Amino acid sequence: MANIVAIGIQWGDEGKGKIVDLLAPEMDVVARFQGGPNAGHTLVIGGEKTVLHLVPSGILHEGVLCLIGNGTVVTPSTIAEEMDALLAAGVPVAERLRISDRCHLILPWHRALDAAREAARGKARIGTTGRGIGPAYEDKTARRGIRLIDLLADDLDARIGEQLDWTNFLLREYFHAPEVSRAEVDAELAIARERLLPLMADVSQLLHERHEAGAAMLFEGAQGVMLDVDFGTYPFVTSSNTVSGAALAGLGVGPAMIDEVLGICKAYTTRVGAGPFPTELYNADGMEDPAGRHLAEKGSEFGATTGRPRRTGWFDAVVVRHAVRVAGVTGLAVTKLDVLDGLPEVKLCVAYERDGERLTHIPADARALDACRPVYETLPGWSESTYGVTDPARLPANARALLARIEEVCGCPVRMLSTGPDRGHICRFPG
Ligand code: GDP
Ligand code: IMO
Ligand code: MG
Repeated sequence: MANIVAIGIQWGDEGKGKIVDLLAPEMDVVARFQGGPNAGHTLVIGGEKTVLHLVPSGILHEGVLCLIGNGTVVTPSTIAEEMDALLAAGVPVAERLRISDRCHLILPWHRALDAAREAARGKARIGTTGRGIGPAYEDKTARRGIRLIDLLADDLDARIGEQLDWTNFLLREYFHAPEVSRAEVDAELAIARERLLPLMADVSQLLHERHEAGAAMLFEGAQGVMLDVDFGTYPFVTSSNTVSGAALAGLGVGPAMIDEVLGICKAYTTRVGAGPFPTELYNADGMEDPAGRHLAEKGSEFGATTGRPRRTGWFDAVVVRHAVRVAGVTGLAVTKLDVLDGLPEVKLCVAYERDGERLTHIPADARALDACRPVYETLPGWSESTYGVTDPARLPANARALLARIEEVCGCPVRMLSTGPDRGHICRFPG
C-alpha cells in the first residue's frame, strides 16, 4: 500500500479533514505532523459535523491508529475537550490515539504572548488564531520548551517557575498586558498528566513497526503551503513548515516512506487572517464583488477554529504551481467545486503582472506579492448542480473543462474532486 502525505496547498481550510476522513478506511495509520490547535478540520458524515483541531481526521474509523507526531504543538485542554466530545459521540478515542513523547506543550503563557504580540502590532497584526502557536514554536526552537515527556522530569517545577517569571516580566513590563497565574499553568499541566500521559508513545518507533508490517499510512498536514514559515507569505504565515517535507521531521520517518503527495485545494481561493492575496475579490472589511460574495456565502466561508469570515477570491494557479513544486505534489484533490455552480463565468489566475512585468512565480517578499495584479483566463460557468455528484460523467462539460485547465496550468493531475461537504460527495480519478 502507498503511504500518502495529504497537505493543503493554498492558505488553509482547503478541505483536508474531509479528504483525510474519506481516505482513512484505506489506511492503517493517520498521523498529524505539524501545527496545533490553530487547525480546524471539518468532517461531515450523513449531515453530522465533527470539527477536529488536534486529533487526526482518521479518528472516526475503527482499526485506524491515529498519531500526533513530535512536529505538532499541543494544548492539553484542547485534546481533552476533543476526546470528551468524541467519547460522547461513541468514538473510543483512547484506544485509537497516541501522542508523541516529544510533542511540545502549548501552555497558558503562550496564548497570553500571542495575544499581547498581536495587540502590540495593531494594524500590522498577522491575524493569528490566538492559540499560542508562534510562541510555542519559538520556545521549541530556543530549546526551552516543555515537552510531553518532560512532565516526568524532576526539574519540571523549576523550569515552569523560571519560564513563568520571564514571561510575566515581558507581559507586565513590555506589553503592559495581564500576567499569567501559576494556578492556570498547573491546571493545564494536571490535564496533560491525567489525559495525555496515558497516551504517550514513541511515534517514530510505532510508525516504523507498522511500516515493516506492511501498513498503509496517511500523514495529515495542517494549514497550507502559503502559510508555510519558509515558502508562504512571510511574515503573514504560521510558525511551522507546512510542506510535505515537514512530515519527515515531524514524525521521524525517512523520505523513502512517502509514495505520494496529495495537494488539497479549493476550486477557488480563501484566506483568513492578514497578508497578501492577489486574487482576492471579497472580504468583511468592505471589499465587494458579486462573485466573491457568491463564494463566501455559498461556500459558508467562516473559520472552523475562530469563526472569522474568510476572504474569498478566484483560483490562483500561480499559488498552486508554487505549492506543487515546493511540496512535490503528485496529485491534486480539488474541493468545493459545487460552490462554483450558478456562476456565469469562472476565472483562473495564470500569472501576475507587476510594474508592467509578467510574473509566473511567487516572489519571496510579501510586499512584492501584494503589488501583483492577477492575469486571468475566463472560462464559461454552468447552471447545473454538481452538489454530491460522484460520477465524473455526470459533471457539466464546462466543469470538466475547468478541471482540465487546472491540471494543465498547475502541471499536476486531479485525482479527487469534492462536490459537497459530506464524506460521500466525491469523484475519484485513479491514476
Ligand atoms: P480543512 O481545515 O482543510 O480541514 O478545512 P475546513 O474544515 O477548515 O474548511 C472546509 C469547509 O468546507 C468545511 O466546512 C467542510 O465541511 C467544507 N467542505 C469540504 N469539502 C467541500 C465541498 O466539496 N463542498 C462544499 N460545499 N463544502 C465542502
Ligand atoms: P487548517 O489546518 C487557515 C492562519 C491564521 C493566520 C496565520 C498565523 O484548518 O487549514 P497562527 O495561529 O498559526 O499563528 O496564525 O495562519 N492559520 C490558518 N488559516 N486554516 C488554518 O488551519 C490555519 N492555521 C493558521 O489565520 O493568518
Ligand atoms: Mg480549517
